[in-house]
Amino acid sequence: MSGTVELVGVTKRFGSHLAVDAISFGIGSGEFFSLLGPSGCGKSTTLRMLSGFEAPDEGIIRIAGQDMADVPPYRRPTNIVFQRWALFPHMSVEANVAFGLEAEGRPRAEIRSRVGDALALVGLSGFAARKPGQLSGGQMQRVALARALVKRPKVLLLDEPLSALDLKLRHQMQIELKRIQQEIGTTFVFVTHDQGEALAMSDKVAVMNAGRVEQIASPQELYDAPATRFVAGFIGHANLLPVTVDGVANGLAMVRLGDLHFAAALRETSIGDMPSGEAILALRFERVRIGAGPAAEAAGAAGAGVARATGVVRQMIFGGASVQYVVGLDAAPVEITAEQPHGAGAPVFAQGTPVTLSWEPADGRLFKA
Ligand SMILES: Nc1ncnc2c1ncn2[C@@H]1O[C@H](COP(=O)(O)OP(=O)(O)OP(=O)(O)O)[C@@H](O)[C@H]1O
Ligand SMILES: [Mg+2]
Repeated sequence: MSGTVELVGVTKRFGSHLAVDAISFGIGSGEFFSLLGPSGCGKSTTLRMLSGFEAPDEGIIRIAGQDMADVPPYRRPTNIVFQRWALFPHMSVEANVAFGLEAEGRPRAEIRSRVGDALALVGLSGFAARKPGQLSGGQMQRVALARALVKRPKVLLLDEPLSALDLKLRHQMQIELKRIQQEIGTTFVFVTHDQGEALAMSDKVAVMNAGRVEQIASPQELYDAPATRFVAGFIGHANLLPVTVDGVANGLAMVRLGDLHFAAALRETSIGDMPSGEAILALRFERVRIGAGPAAEAAGAAGAGVARATGVVRQMIFGGASVQYVVGLDAAPVEITAEQPHGAGAPVFAQGTPVTLSWEPADGRLFKA
């Protein structure tokens, strides 16, 4: 109960712009919870409402079971870490971390011990006397984290805290942050627009789009069972193909894409009440197999109902661990991207090569157009 967060119908407008549109969800105590979505979708506004720096126009926010409506930021059981970590440059690391406790008038001995613990937690025990200017970006971000954690918030709010770091450091800090969160068991509400980051770190992710929550699920559920077309396109890499559904038989939708006919598995959550008509088929890059030549059976594609489409490689994008092929289909004026692991004898198809793509009915997910 101590670190729970609840939002009920929370809405925020800026003038006529609806920045956050009646969102409702709960966060469990000790959860690593991420708000993920494109720029401008309302992530920071939601976080600021949790911190108390912004007030909702409608709705209720409860933290640890208590209604926050009349609770100012400094009296909430939250603390916030920003992208720009804003350390005091003239003060030592130790003084930066101690600042909040000193403002509270805590006894000297308690401050010393809590600052020591916080610096140890973020791996900066030997850096207490340094000034921020003598630290790397990652170290500065750790100081900002220690400064927020030293006050022992029940809920730590983090607004894109790693986005100013370079890629490699960012990956290190993701692992580090996750370790710290597990060690202290504090609820983390983490804002990011980077889906890889959200998937790697979170217990649960809320995917936001235009002020609304599209889906809340574990990273694996989001990936395997996106509830909306937006989530299907935002998480991972998917082809979003405009298809026509001609009918339904034996739990499969009969789907048409140009002159191509194939089956797609039906799922209640994705197809809703749409038995026929225009639809979008989401097909992940890595679920599309690619084989040489128009006549060739693409590797392993033997089962009934497998979709096959011939085409020509228009672009080959080498990504190191994997290769992406953008293939122009013969049967429809669309391109489908296939991704396959590089190496271990996998053939490489140059631009202009005729190929056959294939995928299973269960690999595609249908959404309303
Ligand atoms: N103080 C403000 N006054 C007016 N409009 C605002 C204000 N703060 C945010 N907005 C608008 O509300 C919407 C949501 O903003 P918010 O900062 O929550 O987005 P975000 O999801 O955090 O985006 P980003 O990933 O770019 O940080 C945006 O359209 C933004 O322009
Ligand atoms: Mg933001």
